[in-house]
Amino acid sequence: MNTFTFQRPFESHVHGRDGHLLQAVAPLTARQFWGAIFEPNLKPPITTGKQARVYIERIKAATAEYPDFQAFVLGYLTDSLDVEDLYESLLDGSLLGVKFYPRGATTNSDSGIEDVRSLYTSGTKQFDCINAVVAADKVIQLHCELNFRLDGSELDPYDKEGYFFAEIMPRLQEAHPNAKFSCEHLTTAEAVHYMLKNGGPNLGCSITAHHLLHDRRDMFRGGLRPDLFCLPVLKRYEHWEALIALVSGNHSFVYAGTDSAPHDRRTKESDCCSGGVFTAHAAIEFYAEVFYRHLHLGPGFENFVSVHGPKFYGFEPSDESCTLVRNPWTVDDELHYSINSDGVDSIRPHGYSKNPEERMKLTWKLV
Ligand code: DOR
Ligand code: ZN
Repeated sequence: MNTFTFQRPFESHVHGRDGHLLQAVAPLTARQFWGAIFEPNLKPPITTGKQARVYIERIKAATAEYPDFQAFVLGYLTDSLDVEDLYESLLDGSLLGVKFYPRGATTNSDSGIEDVRSLYTSGTKQFDCINAVVAADKVIQLHCELNFRLDGSELDPYDKEGYFFAEIMPRLQEAHPNAKFSCEHLTTAEAVHYMLKNGGPNLGCSITAHHLLHDRRDMFRGGLRPDLFCLPVLKRYEHWEALIALVSGNHSFVYAGTDSAPHDRRTKESDCCSGGVFTAHAAIEFYAEVFYRHLHLGPGFENFVSVHGPKFYGFEPSDESCTLVRNPWTVDDELHYSINSDGVDSIRPHGYSKNPEERMKLTWKLV
C-alpha cells in the first residue's frame, strides 16, 4: 500500500497561542485539519464569549490561506467566571465548552481552579459553571492532574494523573451525571482503565501523538531533552503500551488531540523549561507513523483522527478526503518566525535535532 485516503481529520486539542506565534503555527494546523479546538490558556486567558470571538477572528486572519478551516475556542474555567456570560456564549457558539486547568499544574495555569472540590460541591460558582455547560449541551475538557492530594500533601509528577482518575473523576461524574467530559492527553494505564470502564457518549478522551511515539526513556536519552518535556509528563513504557492498546480498540470515545504546545527555544532551553511538545507541523504524519509502526494504517486510524473526535463534540465528520502518500522524509528544520520587524525567534519542531542524523524519520506524507 503506497497511499491511504481518509476523511479530513479533526484536531480536538491544540495550543495556538497569539500574535506572531499564532500566525506561525495556526496555518500548520489548518493545512491538515478541517477544524480544530484551540485551548484558552493565553495570557490573559480566554474567559468570555467576547474574548473568544475576537480570538477566533485572529485565528481566521492567521489561517486566511485556508478559508474553510473552522476554529473553535474553549473558555478557561476560573474561580471568577461569569456563569451567565458562559451560558450565553456556549449557546451562541462563541465558546465550544470550558477547560479545567488545575492551578499551577501546567503552562499558563495560574488562573486555574484553586480548590478542585468546588467542581463537585453544589452551591459553588464552579459547580454552577459546569451546570451551565451541561444545560447548553457542551463539553467540559479536563486536564486530569492535580499538584496536591485532597489532604494537601504534594503529589509526585508521575502520580498526578493516576490520582485524578482514582479520586476526582468518580466524584465529578457522580456530582454531574449528565455532564459530557473530555479527558485530555491521557498518559497512564490508570487513565486507560478508567476510560475502558466508563468511556462512552458522555466521557471521551484525547491522546497526543507524542505520548504514542515516546515513553519517558526518550526524554532522558543522552541527557535531558527539553523538547520532550510536556505535562502530563511522558510515562514509563508500560503506560505507553496501555495507550497503544486503548487506541487499538477503535472505541468511539477515543480520539486524536495533539496538545501541540509551541514554546520558543529561549523558554524551552532556559533555567526553567516550559512544558509542551510542538507537533503541529506534522501532526497527522506523526499519528500515521504510530498506526503504521504499531497498529495498522486503516479504518481504525481514520476513526481516531477524523470520526470519533468530531462526533463526540457533536459535529458531522468531514465529507472531504485527504491522502497520505508513502514518501519517507525527515523532519528537516527549525521553525523560525518573526517577532517584530527585525527580530526572529524559533521553535524546535518535534523530531528536529541539530544533528541531521538524529532527526525523526517519517514514512507518510500528507498531500
Ligand atoms: O505540555 C503542556 N503544554 N501541557 C499543557 O497542559 C499546556 C501546554 C502549554 O500550554 O504549553
Ligand atoms: Zn493542552
